[in-house]
Amino acid sequence: MKSLFEAYDLRGRRLGNRIVMAPMTRARARDGVADLQTALYYRQRAGAGLVVSEGTPISQEGTGFAFIPGIWSKAQVSGWDGVTRAVHAQGGTIFAQIWHVGRMSHTSLQPGGGQPVSAGAIPARDDKSMAFAFGEDGTAGFVEASVPRPLRAEEIARVVDDFANAAANAVEAGFDGVEIHGANGYLLEQFLNPHVNDRTDRYGAGNVEDRTRFVLEIVDAVVARIGADRVGIRFSPFGKLFDMPHYPQIEETYLHLAAALQARGLAYVHLMDQGNAAAPAMSEAFLRKFRRAYTGTLILAGSMDKGRAERLLGDDLIDLAGFGQPFIANPDLVERLRRDLPLAKPVRETYYGGGAEGYTDYPAYEDGPEARVA
Ligand SMILES: Cc1cc2nc3c(=O)[nH]c(=O)nc-3n(C[C@H](O)[C@H](O)[C@H](O)COP(=O)(O)O)c2cc1C
Repeated sequence: MKSLFEAYDLRGRRLGNRIVMAPMTRARARDGVADLQTALYYRQRAGAGLVVSEGTPISQEGTGFAFIPGIWSKAQVSGWDGVTRAVHAQGGTIFAQIWHVGRMSHTSLQPGGGQPVSAGAIPARDDKSMAFAFGEDGTAGFVEASVPRPLRAEEIARVVDDFANAAANAVEAGFDGVEIHGANGYLLEQFLNPHVNDRTDRYGAGNVEDRTRFVLEIVDAVVARIGADRVGIRFSPFGKLFDMPHYPQIEETYLHLAAALQARGLAYVHLMDQGNAAAPAMSEAFLRKFRRAYTGTLILAGSMDKGRAERLLGDDLIDLAGFGQPFIANPDLVERLRRDLPLAKPVRETYYGGGAEGYTDYPAYEDGPEARVA
């Protein structure tokens, strides 16, 4: 019987357990560079078998939120170096989630105040589709995402290259690998979804080969730069976040990707379920089909708990279990799950922005009484 708490071999890297800290944006980098506070936050959570960093933008163009630590400049690489050293000093393993938000941005965040880029020119317009950017008076806050412009064919090669450069930077910064962000309505998913991708060229003429071409070109470029054993990718099939309507070919699209990725021998595929425990976005039948098409390391995140993780492991549907919000308030989550200790509840108001409060001040269980109850 597989256990959540046993070691796992991730393409030659020994993970201490099968628990993954899911990527979580915390928006505390005032100047876009990870700092000592960031390093402390990840060091506290290094007991996860695998830590995936918050989304780190590959370029200014790929940025959709203010105060996010990027990974394109020398200063950013050196900031992340402090984070990876802190995690490694605890015996942990950490991948960088490399990210381009596409249309989920705002002109105030773009180079030269230009339009954000996407597969097409269709803006995200539901009530959640906000960028965290700068208003006319220069103060930061949530603003409607700007109308994007379609990437020109020759620019696509440049964005693919930006991903490869970011991956090389991540390795230089000491990360054990990268997770390409293909989930949650950002640029890669904007190419996958035919309601958003209305291109008529080889990146979007309606068929699955064309809609997935951009994603696979990114994977191939990143693999060529740092090696398949250091590359993971994240998807959120059946997610609707940021105005991504469902389409009839969702299953076909992700099963096509599963087969294509199987052939590429990546470190892992990370699926995120955007639903909740009572109403998952992905059916278990879909998960089974994905698992059949992709037999490499598979992570699932989204409303995970110990019981569900153990059941999915026992059914051989997943290899590693991803936890997001529980890691915010429980830096020692692995220990708490192992010993069935109570979990502290995270405070939503301090998820994004600010300083140490709600970031690095959640105690480990042994350190004192449960201070925080939401
Ligand atoms: C504060 C916060 C920030 C997040 N940032 C990211 C991110 O940068 N990249 C990403 O792929 N998912 C992000 N997510 C989604 C999480 O990785 C995770 O999949 C989600 O929270 C569901 O898991 P949970 O129910 O265990 O929290 C974020 C979630 C939260 C709560």
